[in-house]
Amino acid sequence: MSSALFRTKNVEQSIQDTEKPEHALRKSLSALDLTVFGVGVIIGTGIFVLTGKVAKENAGPAVSLAFVVAAVVCALAALCYAEFASTVPVAGSAYTFSYASLGELPAWIIGWDLILEFALGTAVVAVGWSGYIRSLLDNAGWHLPAYLSGREGATGFGFDVLAAGLVLVLTGILVLGMKLSARVTSIVVAIKVAVVLLVIIAGAFFATSSNYKPFVPPTQSVAAEGSLKAPLIQLMFGWAPANFGVMGIFTAASVVFFAFIGFDIVATAAEETRHPQRDMPRGILGSLLICTVLYVAVSIVVTGMQNYRNLSVDAPLADAFKAVGHPFYAGLISFGAAIGLTTVCMILLLGQSRVFFAMSRDGLLPRFFSQVHPRFRTPHRPTILLGVIIAIVSGFTSLSELAELVNIGTLFAFIVVAISVVILRRTRPDLHRAFRTPWVPVIPILSVCASLWLMLNLPAETWLRFAIWMVIGFAVYFLYGRTHSRLARGEAAATGETTRPGSGTTP
Ligand code: ALA
Repeated sequence: MSSALFRTKNVEQSIQDTEKPEHALRKSLSALDLTVFGVGVIIGTGIFVLTGKVAKENAGPAVSLAFVVAAVVCALAALCYAEFASTVPVAGSAYTFSYASLGELPAWIIGWDLILEFALGTAVVAVGWSGYIRSLLDNAGWHLPAYLSGREGATGFGFDVLAAGLVLVLTGILVLGMKLSARVTSIVVAIKVAVVLLVIIAGAFFATSSNYKPFVPPTQSVAAEGSLKAPLIQLMFGWAPANFGVMGIFTAASVVFFAFIGFDIVATAAEETRHPQRDMPRGILGSLLICTVLYVAVSIVVTGMQNYRNLSVDAPLADAFKAVGHPFYAGLISFGAAIGLTTVCMILLLGQSRVFFAMSRDGLLPRFFSQVHPRFRTPHRPTILLGVIIAIVSGFTSLSELAELVNIGTLFAFIVVAISVVILRRTRPDLHRAFRTPWVPVIPILSVCASLWLMLNLPAETWLRFAIWMVIGFAVYFLYGRTHSRLARGEAAATGETTRPGSGTTP
């Protein structure tokens, strides 16, 4: 039994699975496409919305240091992700990597976890997008009725019709094909980066040095709002709940970590990349570096424009410009943010449909979902199924209820990937690795410790929710995936796939 749970799919088999025409995705992406893809999904609700809340409640001007801490955690994970993505260039990201190294049960766990990350991440960003659009509509004098404006602050029935509508429209675009999405993405990413640069360059003229004092505000005790709301680390060590100070920077980092989610999604597109071995590491590390520089610059500028205590929690970048008497810039920024969040949503949707697709192709989920569309060559069935579910979730749930759950799921995935790098080096030293993580096992060990540290800074209730999701996942695996898995049925050997290298490769 235990050997069945840890049966591994061999790497060559993973690659050859992608070459059967009815299961093959089109290979059309370059390194530049991947970087644009990465920047497109990374810059989003994190910088546009969470910066203000975290500066105000946890870190003050030191929110820029929180971005640096989160970036270091992500960079360590990225070095591990890049090795895997260049070794196992097939759809599914950390799921596929762990199937080839750790075994079927760990792979299932990570795939289940990635669906949580991407699907709920999509919902979070859709709700953030809807807020910006409503604010723009308000400027124009149009107001949506409260019952169509979402859950935040709603009494009685509340459905966020804009968030749900956005998810459905983007689902349609993804079903129509990768090429269209990539083109739309690059235009929108250009607008988003321009807006971020506008904040940095124009805002720098309004920063005053007095707003940076103190840069790290002194620690402040807070009333415990029920022990489950406190970070797990505080409960473990019996510390009194507190904000600001040095520990506040870490609490802030565990929240603004959301701003970096997405670089790992670049790895889910490996199968659709023309030269994955060369371009995948470039795409992942490149997009991460660009975003880190922009985030640190934006947070320094914004906390310099307005005292951290006065920052807005809904639209901090735009409202800082209103505070210094420039509403025109504020409108422009809101407009760009709304457009930018659209691509984030789209790429998160893409990522989760690809993980679902890969799991279904392996028989861990019904194989009905792994037939690509005969004309568009996209995995239309999981895209539509999950798109509809996410639209409903985003309509009925508030942003704050979901973001921390997304973070814990992603950090958990980072840990599994880092461990997998070390295991695969030992079990398959022969594999060609276009990109090799430096200083193995030191970097993977540091990556595990850093991710775990941020996880411990998340609230205990987030850990509880995550545990519940995982228990459901175990139930699905033991009731369905374990017996339907292609490895369990010996299908790969029966159909002789492993002896037909290169057959049916799509152009
Ligand atoms: N990193 C993405 C965002 O901040 C998910 O919205």
